[in-house]
Amino acid sequence: MRLTNKKAIVTGGAGGIGRASSLALAAEGASVAVVDLNIEAAEGVAAEIREAGGVALAVAADVSDEQDIERVVATVLAEFGGVDVVFNNAGIIRRTTAVETTVEEWDRVFGVNVRSIFLMCKHVVPVMESAGGGSIINTGSGWGLKGGGRALSYCASKGAVVNMTRALAIDHGPAGIRVNSVNPGDVNTGMLRDEARQLAQDTSSFLAEAADRPLRRMGEPEEVAQAVVWLASDESSYVTGSAMVVDGGGIA
Ligand SMILES: NC(=O)c1ccc[n+]([C@@H]2O[C@H](COP(=O)([O-])OP(=O)(O)OC[C@H]3O[C@@H](n4cnc5c(N)ncnc54)[C@H](O)[C@@H]3O)[C@@H](O)[C@H]2O)c1
Repeated sequence: MRLTNKKAIVTGGAGGIGRASSLALAAEGASVAVVDLNIEAAEGVAAEIREAGGVALAVAADVSDEQDIERVVATVLAEFGGVDVVFNNAGIIRRTTAVETTVEEWDRVFGVNVRSIFLMCKHVVPVMESAGGGSIINTGSGWGLKGGGRALSYCASKGAVVNMTRALAIDHGPAGIRVNSVNPGDVNTGMLRDEARQLAQDTSSFLAEAADRPLRRMGEPEEVAQAVVWLASDESSYVTGSAMVVDGGGIA
């Protein structure tokens, strides 16, 4: 197993990519704190991990809130005794143009997608520094690299995730902390169905459009999870500041 004795935090751990990644990290031996606004679903993921023989804990938190982040880190330290891996994955999307977006929606998207990563790093980097290192993985998006239609706040926030990942890698590399982003294309999760609803589009035609890429299908959450496991593990020991793309070829 590639993550024996590692302690991991996964935000948005109850959702599609977060759940698959929590299960995959645990299957490689990591103890996993499943963090989500939706505590019932997070408890469900933690129970799945335990049923498979792993170690897990569910923590309710709004990742945009500093007190919640401080409580998450304190809880994980108390329960697991350290933090080696953080997957900053919680995210939301609003399918609106500049004209359609309210200031409140803009701030909420940035709070959940960007401020959350700043806050988690603010409180977890000192823990990793004192332990001699760690691996932080942030979920960007293909749309953070190339842009996309009618999702201005989301594209801006994911562009910020990609570049803050590079800045974090520069700042904390000397302490042995690696920071990378994983950038999915369209992945078969609740978020895609939420987008179809927001755009008032038929779900099956929306999903069919999402599959229009060289590999001729959407991604599955488990395929993103394998990239997360690799970035979390020592197999990626010389990789930091990178923007890994997992998109079926959609971005090229
Ligand atoms: N699904 C895709 O096609 C796709 C593509 C590119 C990037 N992404 C990114 O992947 C990440 C995971 O998305 P997903 O597709 O699994 O979506 P999802 O909606 O299935 O999961 C998102 C999870 O985040 C949680 N969450 C939302 N706001 C939160 C908050 N304030 N605090 C704590 N938890 C919160 C939700 O409860 C949910 O469990 C997101 O950052 C998303 O932007 C997804």
